[in-house]
Amino acid sequence: MTAGSPPTTDAAELRVGDRTLSLPVVRGTEGDDALDISRLRAESGLITLDPGFGNTGAATSAITFLDGEAGVLRYRGYPIEQLAEHSTFLEVAYLLVYGDLPTQEQLNSFVTEVTHHTLIREEMRNFFDSFPTDAHPMAVLASGVVGMSTFYPDSQNIFDADAVEVTINRLIAKVPTLAAWSFKKAVGQPYVYPRNDLGYAPNLLHMMFAVPSEDYEVDPAVAEALDLLLILHADHEQNASTSTVRLVGSTHANLYASISAGISALWGPLHGGANEAVINTLEQIVADGGNLQKWVDKAKDPNDSFRLAGFGHRVYKNFDPRATIIKRAADRVLAATGADDDLFEVAQRLEEVALNDEYFVGRKLYPNVDFYSGLIYRAIGFPKNMYTNCFAIGRLPGWIAQWKEMMSSPETKIGRPRQVYVGTGSRDYVAIEQR
Ligand code: ACO
Repeated sequence: MTAGSPPTTDAAELRVGDRTLSLPVVRGTEGDDALDISRLRAESGLITLDPGFGNTGAATSAITFLDGEAGVLRYRGYPIEQLAEHSTFLEVAYLLVYGDLPTQEQLNSFVTEVTHHTLIREEMRNFFDSFPTDAHPMAVLASGVVGMSTFYPDSQNIFDADAVEVTINRLIAKVPTLAAWSFKKAVGQPYVYPRNDLGYAPNLLHMMFAVPSEDYEVDPAVAEALDLLLILHADHEQNASTSTVRLVGSTHANLYASISAGISALWGPLHGGANEAVINTLEQIVADGGNLQKWVDKAKDPNDSFRLAGFGHRVYKNFDPRATIIKRAADRVLAATGADDDLFEVAQRLEEVALNDEYFVGRKLYPNVDFYSGLIYRAIGFPKNMYTNCFAIGRLPGWIAQWKEMMSSPETKIGRPRQVYVGTGSRDYVAIEQR
């Protein structure tokens, strides 16, 4: 079986035995073309096998473009560098969800909607009270998000545009409250209610760090850095958590359920959980005497499951543009908070050692978005197990935009991959006493 002509024509040919099949070529805006194999099984009896989906496009999408070789990332056509410099998280959220940058009036109305949904239902306090104190905040957040669907049955109406609109506003408004309360639960402090006179990032900082006995004065430089992190995390096309949101959403489960599933997928250390894993590794390296080469060698050892968290990416094979922006921001936040973080210095040296190592260079393993983000969260004062919660707040508009796009696309079907069965052939049941 050989693949046919490259996608310069509108179809490629595939020879299967003595038959030649024609596979349509789908053209992307930026030259990211694909073979449409949706008729392959019907016409040849074959399916494609692609564990990890490294070569599989699950959808056409108009939300985010990235070129992993060139280190390019754009939301709705806008380069991430420009959004990072000029925009705000809520403006980016609007852009992702509605497709264009808002006018001032549209932005005001969106911010007002989001700001006035920040309270969560008072009964939800019982949820938080019931979790063990050392519950991981990602588990609490995922539970809280799907738990919200019990209070808002209108969210079941996934084809009702008005109900969807309210659900979107509620999610963007309330997820920071849930995240902050999961933190309060973990540190044994009273829950702090949102303040609608504060902006999105300042309000999140307020709910995290204020206590009834003492207000928390939001440092604008810190709030700006947090807002930037949220922008950088806001979407990343068909990554593991977004694909999870789409897959769950394709069953017509409600948006809360889909987002909760995405949060669970994000939790893993190979995905969003890498920001926590990076700091754990840096701390281990310091506690172990700071021998960086030893840890780089450990990551290279094929008999050791240890990987250098924060390095490597399925798609970026040159540099992760988000990591470049975050590294500069880390410098600024450390200066603003006066945090003298020796881990930042260790991280920079580790990056240097790895980037001069043939193993990492040959496999194109570069620092990803999570390598430096944990250091910013740490400088702000978040405990390690809250970093991925912050990532989830940032990724939320992307998940919502992708869900919305999927729900409105005529090409959407329930997500249902196939398999190649390699188990035992048919055999007869044997009574237990004869086994
Ligand atoms: N440390 C050491 N070796 C690595 C690392 C790493 N961080 N990442 C990849 N490799 C090696 C693999 O062992 C493999 O080596 P081999 O060819 O000799 O077998 C090779 O590089 C290719 O790696 P794959 O696992 O095949 O790459 P894949 O695209 O499947 O995985 C992933 C990407 C999961 C990000 C991987 O690089 C990794 O585990 N990184 C560490 C975790 C991390 O930082 N995740 C966050 C990613 S960003 C995000 O999700 C928000």
